[in-house]
Amino acid sequence: MADRKIIHITREQMAEQLHYAAMVSAMGNRPTSYHVVTYGCQMNAHDSEKLSGMLRDMGMTEAADRTEADFVIFNTCCVRDNAERRALGNVTWLKEVRKKNPRLIIAVCGCMIQQPGMAEKILKQYRFVDLAFGTSNLYKLPELLYRTLSSDRAVVVVEDEDTIAEELPIKRLRKDAAYITIMYGCNNFCSYCIVPYVRGRERSREMEAILREARELKASGVKEIMLLGQNVNSYGKGLEGHVTFAGLLRALDEIGIERIRFMTSHPKDLSDELIEVMGSSRHILPQFHLPVQHGNDEILRRMNRHYTRAQYLDKVRKLRQAVPGIGLTTDIIVGFPGETEEQFQDTLSIVREVGYDSAFTFIYSPRTGTVAAGMPDQVAEDVATDRIQRLIAVQEESQRKAMSRFIGMEEEVLVEGLSRRSSSEVSGHGRHGVSITLPGTESDIGSIIRVRVTAMKNNTLVGERIDEPEESICVKS
Ligand code: SAH
Ligand code: SF4
Ligand code: F3S
Repeated sequence: MADRKIIHITREQMAEQLHYAAMVSAMGNRPTSYHVVTYGCQMNAHDSEKLSGMLRDMGMTEAADRTEADFVIFNTCCVRDNAERRALGNVTWLKEVRKKNPRLIIAVCGCMIQQPGMAEKILKQYRFVDLAFGTSNLYKLPELLYRTLSSDRAVVVVEDEDTIAEELPIKRLRKDAAYITIMYGCNNFCSYCIVPYVRGRERSREMEAILREARELKASGVKEIMLLGQNVNSYGKGLEGHVTFAGLLRALDEIGIERIRFMTSHPKDLSDELIEVMGSSRHILPQFHLPVQHGNDEILRRMNRHYTRAQYLDKVRKLRQAVPGIGLTTDIIVGFPGETEEQFQDTLSIVREVGYDSAFTFIYSPRTGTVAAGMPDQVAEDVATDRIQRLIAVQEESQRKAMSRFIGMEEEVLVEGLSRRSSSEVSGHGRHGVSITLPGTESDIGSIIRVRVTAMKNNTLVGERIDEPEESICVKS
């Protein structure tokens, strides 16, 4: 498995797809509108932006709702069982919609499709699916759609390959903030996780391609970029020369985009060099998503995480030293096979000890083919449910304490939209990653606004605007 080849999709192969796109555009039976339904992580959200870009370039318009589209693509996730069930439930529902719109074409793609045996299952059990393709085939959408429109049979193409395709069209969701994928896949094989099986081996994009994309985004007025990868810290492995994530960040910092964020980082690969760059850069935001997963060494070992509780806490200490006030967030799993009450207590205590600004908490979900799925002593559902409730309570309390450090502080908010509570309020994220609500109107969306934090309501901070001339806005907190 380790010596799988990375396949760089060539210019000629991309040109071939453009040729298919032109053929689809000219077909009388082609869909005129599309809708992409996205599940899962930011990787999938960004893949959906690429799918939309290709469909736009084939002359289709985006329908606001899936029931109004001629072509619906489900970009699926399978990281936990509930993600998978939700996707399949919705695909089945579309079968009914098709009765009303016989032109409707249904496609399913993403991580769920890439699981072993899934292609056969789609063909047998989900006969109303017209097109299914895996994560490594995404760039082939024009060709696959051409084949679907030219035949009465379902087109199902799943290749287990480690591809990198550059220059795909992208229809971005936002104008002010953008995703940039810097690496694909994962080599870590945490024992509970399906991602390495469905996203392939780790591979990094050339640094120059990333910098070019960032420069173009800056020129188009983007204020924030989010670098994406399953383990951004190990960016650069396999590239020529000594290329590191810290080096990439340094080069991106020079470009001058106001805000740079990234996710996700693996604690074992969080280097001192990266911590140093975090402390000395101008544009990298003072926030860090550092999934701990568990607080007990024995469980961390069986999870194949390659760090101990003490090592994790040491990285947190160094990060806080280099970037005082840094916003820390995490992912946590409860109910991993064999987890005892005592071991679970270690998770509660690490949450209290670190004081995260937020935490994504999950009940362990066995994934076929992973090592943990075969481990003895799977934890009963009621025990796991009880644990996650207790964990959430501890996290909420510790979050309130952690977030109180912002009261009275100045922050800069990139306004994302109107607040749900009131039409005279807008909300967005501060530099530390915490959500902030402030007085404002629709015209503020996409602007960076300085506020003083005055209060905390639920998990959101409330701020008041600090009026000052635009040119004096500083970018370093
Ligand atoms: N590459 C990222 C995470 C990808 S999946 C990282 O390592 O941080 C996002 C989160 O889902 C993981 O951090 C983990 O907490 C959770 N997760 C993954 N597999 C899971 C499983 N089988 N059951 C429950 N949670 C899981
Ligand atoms: Fe999954 Fe672990 Fe890879 Fe994250 S680092 S994607 S949890 S295998
Ligand atoms: Fe889900 Fe795939 Fe992301 S399994 S979490 S969409 S990498």
